[in-house]
Amino acid sequence: MIEQIDSLLSQARAELAQAADEQHVEAARVKYLGKHGSLSGLRKGMGAVPAADRPKMGKLVTDAIAQFEALLEETRKSISARALQTDLQREKLDVTLPGRTHRRGHRHPVSQALDDIVEIFARLGFHKADGPEIEWDIYNFEKLGIPADHPARDMQDTFYLSSRLPPPPGSPPTRGAQEQLLLRTHTSPVQARTMLGQPPPVRIIAPGKVYRVDSDITHTPMFHQVECLHVERGLSMAHLRGTLDAFAKAFFGAEIKTRLRPSYFPFTEPSAEVDVSHNLCGGKGCKICKFSGWLEVLGSGMVNPDVLAGVGYDPEEYTGYAFGVGIDRLAMLRHGIDDLRLLFENDVRFLEQL
Ligand code: PHE
Repeated sequence: MIEQIDSLLSQARAELAQAADEQHVEAARVKYLGKHGSLSGLRKGMGAVPAADRPKMGKLVTDAIAQFEALLEETRKSISARALQTDLQREKLDVTLPGRTHRRGHRHPVSQALDDIVEIFARLGFHKADGPEIEWDIYNFEKLGIPADHPARDMQDTFYLSSRLPPPPGSPPTRGAQEQLLLRTHTSPVQARTMLGQPPPVRIIAPGKVYRVDSDITHTPMFHQVECLHVERGLSMAHLRGTLDAFAKAFFGAEIKTRLRPSYFPFTEPSAEVDVSHNLCGGKGCKICKFSGWLEVLGSGMVNPDVLAGVGYDPEEYTGYAFGVGIDRLAMLRHGIDDLRLLFENDVRFLEQL
């Protein structure tokens, strides 16, 4: 009987060592310890053992069963540990790792600059006005003193739209240049639209997209401008300078330098172009500032009296100043970007740095 116990135990041990899953373990349990199991059968066979040997044999059987049960438990544990291991490998999921924080996005550098500009001007008492990006020739050019064939049209290479809307009812049958639609080349048409829609005084800024047939490191076919227009009694060039200065310092910081250069725009008289010192090369000159140390950021001037008269304002009573800022240029300067086109390629690796 002792031999029988030993051989059953080693057989059971060998089987459990082979067990691949819970079912195998359970089958082994039933086989050896179930109602008709071979180990449990030994207990039933005790009656045949001589009475003197019975306590000893009984103990041997009980020990064998206890050993087998311990073995069962051990096998179960190692099987479930193995199962967890394969699960983890398959899912590559370690629930004990610390959580990953989501990266937050941020606004595009041009939107940031635009919002800042609107806020700075709001503090100076300007409110926001809007105009369409698909614009009539009349607002983009005519009302700003640039009739068809005026040489100033060459300053702005224009995307004209081929389709023309039907002329307004009651207009002569010929279709003039005024009915031509185009992608606005600047935000200045908002000047005319605003003044036609309200009496003076006017104090607005108009941010938005503008379009020109242009592309190099400081030009893209679509770019952003903010128009500023202030019309009131008694305004002079000093108000223009003061406003520009306050704006440049609020945007770039007190150390920024600005300069006005005489220029020409048909809708302002006199006109000036405004440059800011180029912080990227420290004013020493580089390819972006065309080796001058300065970057042109806006056109400005006193509103041409003809423009005021053209919208029904009395130029004897009212004067005004206006300027148009290139927002993308400002964003470039602020972040030290050396190619304007990077702003619109939408490469996240670039945008993430700003
Ligand atoms: N609209 C002009 C441009 O885009 C800039 C400008 C605006 C100049 C207002 C004078 C006054 O070049």
